[in-house]
Amino acid sequence: MTAAHEIPDILSQEFAENPYPVYRALREEAPLFWHKGTQSWLLSRYEDVSRAFKDKEGLFTTDNYAWQAEPVHGRTLIQMSGREHASRRALVAPAFRGNALRDQVVPIIERNARELIAAFRDSGSVDLVSGFASLFPISVIADMFGLDRSGQQALGGWYRAFVAFTGNLSGDPEQAAEGARAQAEFAAYMLPVIRNRRENLGDDLLSALCTAEVDGVSMSDEDIKAFCSLLLTAGAETTDKAVAGLFANLLANPDQLAAVRRDRGLIDRAFAETLRHTPPVQMIMRQTAADVTVSGGTIPAGSTVTCLIGAANRDPGRYKDPDAFDLFRDDLTATNAFSAAADHLAFALGRHFCVGALLAKTEVEIAVDQLLDAMPGLRPAAGYDPAAEGVFTRGPKSLRVEFTPAPAAASASAPAAG
Ligand code: HEM
Repeated sequence: MTAAHEIPDILSQEFAENPYPVYRALREEAPLFWHKGTQSWLLSRYEDVSRAFKDKEGLFTTDNYAWQAEPVHGRTLIQMSGREHASRRALVAPAFRGNALRDQVVPIIERNARELIAAFRDSGSVDLVSGFASLFPISVIADMFGLDRSGQQALGGWYRAFVAFTGNLSGDPEQAAEGARAQAEFAAYMLPVIRNRRENLGDDLLSALCTAEVDGVSMSDEDIKAFCSLLLTAGAETTDKAVAGLFANLLANPDQLAAVRRDRGLIDRAFAETLRHTPPVQMIMRQTAADVTVSGGTIPAGSTVTCLIGAANRDPGRYKDPDAFDLFRDDLTATNAFSAAADHLAFALGRHFCVGALLAKTEVEIAVDQLLDAMPGLRPAAGYDPAAEGVFTRGPKSLRVEFTPAPAAASASAPAAG
């Protein structure tokens, strides 16, 4: 383990502005680094982060979520292990893949993308973050749950408070208190909705959770509330930043933007490369079950480990020219990118691999396709500044763009400049 006093702190302003040079220094000089501010061991190399996520040896638990997530969500599958995790995951996973995704969720995604785009498509300009990305995934999840539209604004406030609680690396007491307030408000809103839904089942996700049963196990009202809380956070914050990050990357590489516009079959490659290059979730924690030897030294049992996804995904030992955004790169397999066989780490790996990865892929494919149709000649607007913000989760703060308004019926096959 290297002391590496000269490496900027991950809680510093310098890191918040651009974490990638710091990630490089950690990878090269201190691949195992004791970080006093978060009281955790930082891992930054692909090999180490991937090993922690796959956890074949049963050394890296998710017990950290008992303090990082349970106080705001309640107990959820993310902190479970073994049979408990497997059976809870089996209860919920079918809603996010296969027929359920195709028949019930795709129409919701298409409708929400269309409605949000309708609000700006004639104007010729939009901030893709505030005008689309930050609104789209939360509307999709709310509709999947079958929630009343009037509650959607409050949902946005609650999930942002939950993300801030989980990513409260500096232990800010105000963020902690905000998370507790949001927890109480969300429970007061959600529990009556769940009780009512049990009496009035429909074909929405909430009804599916009310009736789901695996091996005689079903979910209590409290379990369902906790899972909804986790889903809102895990599904909205991340996909929001993924859509914005993908556009920021394409706008920075006009030839790749033109290629995706011509061939929409490339959207999944552009999304996979965005997940690698600019992952929405930059770091995920684990807790060691025993002493573990990794690059550079030994982590004692019972320690918190911060797995730096943003660093590992740009490890030159794994990817050629890792700082370049290249959707055509041959060392990232787009066909595996949304399964636990993924060769990037943005969804983690192993048993906690993102249960919503296929949903995210479907949302991004539909949204990007519709946005490209609605925005011929897409280009940065005056004052365009794609600077990203966030340390735990990260994405562009704003993306002000201009385009030549297209008629609503424009088809994906009509090529256009940009
Ligand atoms: C680009 C979008 C997304 C990214 C980058 C992302 C990232 C992640 C990551 C890194 C994990 C692993 C957490 C850990 O191992 O500690 C995870 C797990 C999870 N994600 Fe996602 N996620 C995305 C979209 C979604 C969506 C759309 C949903 C559902 C609405 C979702 C629901 C979940 C859930 C429930 C888990 C916990 C799974 C388990 O513990 O078994 N995610 N996600």
